[in-house]
Amino acid sequence: MSLLILENVTKRFGGLVAVDQVSLEIKHGEFVGIVGPNGSGKTTLFNVINGVFFPEEGRVIFEGLDITTLPPYKRAPLGIGRTFQIPRPFASATVRENVAVGAMFGTLSGKVNVDESLEIADQTIERVGLKEHRNKQAGTLTPVEKKLMEIARALAMKPKLLLMDEAMAGMHPNDIDQMVAFIKQVAEEDKIAIVAMVEHIMRAVVGMAEKVIVLHQGAKLVDAPTKEALEDPKVVEVYLGRPSEK
Ligand SMILES: Nc1ncnc2c1ncn2[C@@H]1O[C@H](COP(=O)(O)OP(=O)(O)OP(=O)(O)O)[C@@H](O)[C@H]1O
Ligand SMILES: [Mg+2]
Repeated sequence: MSLLILENVTKRFGGLVAVDQVSLEIKHGEFVGIVGPNGSGKTTLFNVINGVFFPEEGRVIFEGLDITTLPPYKRAPLGIGRTFQIPRPFASATVRENVAVGAMFGTLSGKVNVDESLEIADQTIERVGLKEHRNKQAGTLTPVEKKLMEIARALAMKPKLLLMDEAMAGMHPNDIDQMVAFIKQVAEEDKIAIVAMVEHIMRAVVGMAEKVIVLHQGAKLVDAPTKEALEDPKVVEVYLGRPSEK
């Protein structure tokens, strides 16, 4: 069974079609990169998957369940986690507390109590390499550390599907390589499917994704194995046209 299926999903904002008849399929443990120019609908597509927006048309199916009109807080416990394009931590809470919230939010079934969630937080924080920062206020972290905390918070939810919006934006190339290797390792170990939105960071796409979906003006332009997708003339035209971006 597929982990996630989108069937002809359309999301409009007034007269603007932000996501246009998109169908796609994500398998368990698959690593998929979503790319596309600014305004091509990537974030909106994510928000349709995690329930921030309901589509006007089409269906969203997660592990066989129609979740098209399920609110976000009911999707998280099913195993849909996300990171935000702009991290929004609880700035005055500690790193540990921020990540513990993720652990609790992911399992609203009530199976995780506060102590357990702090334990999950500690394990996850160690994994992303923030151990020495765990008692700092989140607001005092550097942008890269905030991204790492954001990833820890999402992983603490123990998702089956992790949606990463611009997870590596603003990072130094060396940090990106390290991050890509880390995320790939976690995905394999925990069998998490990752759908990563990696605007302008083609090296990250090439480094991690098995498959690349290219959006253009809200519609799916290409959906193919990474190498094939990046060599597709349509992609070169709309997205990779300038050699400096490769
Ligand atoms: N809440 C909203 N209300 C109205 N229009 C919106 C809203 N969110 C997005 N849009 C519009 O929908 C289109 C797709 O936007 P979206 O943010 O999904 O693109 P994106 O691919 O994530 O862009 P970026 O690379 O800049 O993050 C854009 O034209 C945008 O202006
Ligand atoms: Mg976006």
